[in-house]
Amino acid sequence: MKGVVLAGGLGTRLFPLTKVTNKHLLPVYDKPMIYYPIQTLINAGITDILIVTGGNHAGDFLRLLGNGKEFGLKHINYTYQEGEGGIAEALGLAEFFAENNKICVVLGDNIIEKNIKKAVENFKKQKEGAKIILKEVPDPNRFGVPILDGEKVIKIEEKPKKPKSPYAVIGIYLYDSTVFDIIKTLKPSDRGELEITDVNNAYIKKGTMTWEILDGWWTDAGTIPSLLQASNLVAKTGANKLE
Ligand code: G1P
Repeated sequence: MKGVVLAGGLGTRLFPLTKVTNKHLLPVYDKPMIYYPIQTLINAGITDILIVTGGNHAGDFLRLLGNGKEFGLKHINYTYQEGEGGIAEALGLAEFFAENNKICVVLGDNIIEKNIKKAVENFKKQKEGAKIILKEVPDPNRFGVPILDGEKVIKIEEKPKKPKSPYAVIGIYLYDSTVFDIIKTLKPSDRGELEITDVNNAYIKKGTMTWEILDGWWTDAGTIPSLLQASNLVAKTGANKLE
């Protein structure tokens, strides 16, 4: 399985912190934000990694990460998203890299306490389709929220005013190689972006979406309160634990 870290976007919810740098280069406690999603992939045994970045600061990722020596990697792949087409558009740029392999996609501002080893191993055994990872949160209206019927996920609603479950769909997704065909069929949402939730709903429609609950804490770091929360959580317990 290959890994993709999505680290583009303007980070407008963090202005003015992101006026002169990319969101994913900002500190979360003692490391740049992007260190955490990279470590998430490595801890799951995924070492063939593509970073998708964009905007005016793309060169800084190369300066910061190089070929990934600090992570014990021999090489890191990079690509560049022009404009603001959304998460699913950014993922579309990974098609040449994936080469028909299954992929694990991590949003560059998603940080976890533990690891996703079990979900990745289970997805390797899954014949086709996709897997999402869920976490119960106090404020599901900020995220993609699944509607569940027992073991089945019926639909995901993006930032619903009245969430139909207490779960967030976290920004770590497992896809088979048909994800790139799905992305090509998407239309921009009201915010003018290709939405990852529409990708996931396409798999749900086909009946090939599975889900798991994440063990340990999860947070995004894309708003001022969640950036602070991320730093506090990492300071308190550490992140990306192996067990
Ligand atoms: C994105 C996704 C959302 C998901 C979240 C996780 O939201 O659209 O479904 O729950 O990431 O961090 P965004 O951060 O782009 O608003």
